[in-house]
Amino acid sequence: MTVPPLIVAPSILAADFAHLADEVRAVEHAADWLHVDVMDNHFVPNLTIGLPVVQSLRAATELPFDVHLMIEDPRRWAPGYADAGAYNVTFHAEACDDPVALAKDLRSAGAKAGLAIDRDTPIEPYLDLLPSFDTLLIMTIKAGFGGQRFIPRLLDKVRAARRHVASGHLELRIEVDGGIAADTIEQAAAAGADAFVAGTAVYGADDPAEAVRRLRGLAERATTGA
Ligand code: DX5
Ligand code: ZN
Repeated sequence: MTVPPLIVAPSILAADFAHLADEVRAVEHAADWLHVDVMDNHFVPNLTIGLPVVQSLRAATELPFDVHLMIEDPRRWAPGYADAGAYNVTFHAEACDDPVALAKDLRSAGAKAGLAIDRDTPIEPYLDLLPSFDTLLIMTIKAGFGGQRFIPRLLDKVRAARRHVASGHLELRIEVDGGIAADTIEQAAAAGADAFVAGTAVYGADDPAEAVRRLRGLAERATTGA
């Protein structure tokens, strides 16, 4: 399988939940991953969807699932998403006392392992854990709700992670999530992100597939400097 240089992952949090399968199919040929936000009303105040919805949706699309768990006790729940066929399962550093052990469990369950860093969490304590992970998700908002305004200073964490990845020759996706849109994706790409979650910017558009293509074009341009 060839590895795409950049990943665009529409977040179904901004989709119409009454027509989820149709909403997913609307981006099927434009997106790389489908970003699925799982929230438990404890780790974050919001409540979204869980395993049964992911299982049903898994049968409705070929897109790889990028599951973003904003939940407490991820050691209990995260492997279930790997078993359900998620491509990548990301849990929050703030919610887990042994991230490396859980990453191992996820990988042995056949998924990629992702570590998420919320707005107020510094990245430095986690840099040494990154060889155990496939994806590092750096929030560019405070996790919990879609439609928030992008916080540019959080890109300092992306820059630090990118430097660390380069110096350690790590294979790691650096993903950004929150407020990613046509007016912010270029700065995120220039900072070193290579996977981009976009909810409102995709599902708030008249043509979600076209919105994905446009975002990819902007990110590519910012990366290659073309
Ligand atoms: C929020 C979620 C995001 C959300 C992003 O905590 O993790 O994935 O869907 O939404 P936008 O792109 O609207 O900021
Ligand atoms: Zn998310």
